[in-house]
Amino acid sequence: MISMNLDRIIAVRNNKTVFRDGDRVIKVFDNDFTKADVLNEALNQALVEETGLHIPAILEVSRIDGRWAIVSEYIKGKNLAQLIADDSGKWLDVMAALHCEVASKSVPALPKLNDKLHRKICASLLPATARYDIHNRLDAMPKHASLCHGDFNPSNITVTPDGTPYILDWSHASCGDPASDAAMTCLMFMCDGQNETAGRYLRLYCEKSGTDAEHIKSWFPIMAAAASVSGMPEKRDFYNRIATESEPDVEK
Ligand SMILES: Nc1ncnc2c1ncn2[C@@H]1O[C@H](COP(=O)(O)OP(=O)(O)O)[C@@H](O)[C@H]1O
Ligand SMILES: [Mg+2]
Repeated sequence: MISMNLDRIIAVRNNKTVFRDGDRVIKVFDNDFTKADVLNEALNQALVEETGLHIPAILEVSRIDGRWAIVSEYIKGKNLAQLIADDSGKWLDVMAALHCEVASKSVPALPKLNDKLHRKICASLLPATARYDIHNRLDAMPKHASLCHGDFNPSNITVTPDGTPYILDWSHASCGDPASDAAMTCLMFMCDGQNETAGRYLRLYCEKSGTDAEHIKSWFPIMAAAASVSGMPEKRDFYNRIATESEPDVEK
């Protein structure tokens, strides 16, 4: 292992820290991440690199002071969350177009989305009848094998000075129906209290991808049930509510 400078912190989460060391980024995971979790995130990222999408290249997987770490290329630029706050008209459109580009790729070696979702629904704290309905709803969905990011929100997109958007954070990547990924993006905006943005994103994504909005909305309870498993308590309450609503909708 080459020496690493961990002085510059660029992001802190409750169970991981992201450092910058020159032209490299080092994501150091706490010990509640298993070896398999970290190697899996690195593998996902390595597989997605092969699609040619603009993403940070993996440089190394390492151990630092007894913790697992993923070293990737540093992407210089502005976070899309900030750009959207400044000019949402322009940047939401860029984000939706980028999402369609992701959906145009196929990475069959990634985990299957529906398998992951079934496991999360089993692990959720929803009543048994609700879980049963959601498992059935998932089984009835059309089968697809498109690249799904799993956490496609503005904080995971960095735009370089020449205007190229790079997509970060492939830990939740899978292959499945891209409409599920668009649904998850809308839910993340809604969970953040940004209902109007969720509605606009839905319309933009539908327009660009030719997807029916009703199909995306039909993923809401499934994605919400899966999302209710992880996350902070206030987010869990939001996702539990969406998972059990009979007609969840945006812009309410
Ligand atoms: N390769 C990178 N280049 C530049 N910034 C990065 C890079 N990787 C992560 N970051 C920054 O660190 C933040 C957290 O990293 P991320 O991989 O999204 O972890 P998390 O799983 O905690 O969301 C990102 O939102 C971004 O601001
Ligand atoms: Mg992230």
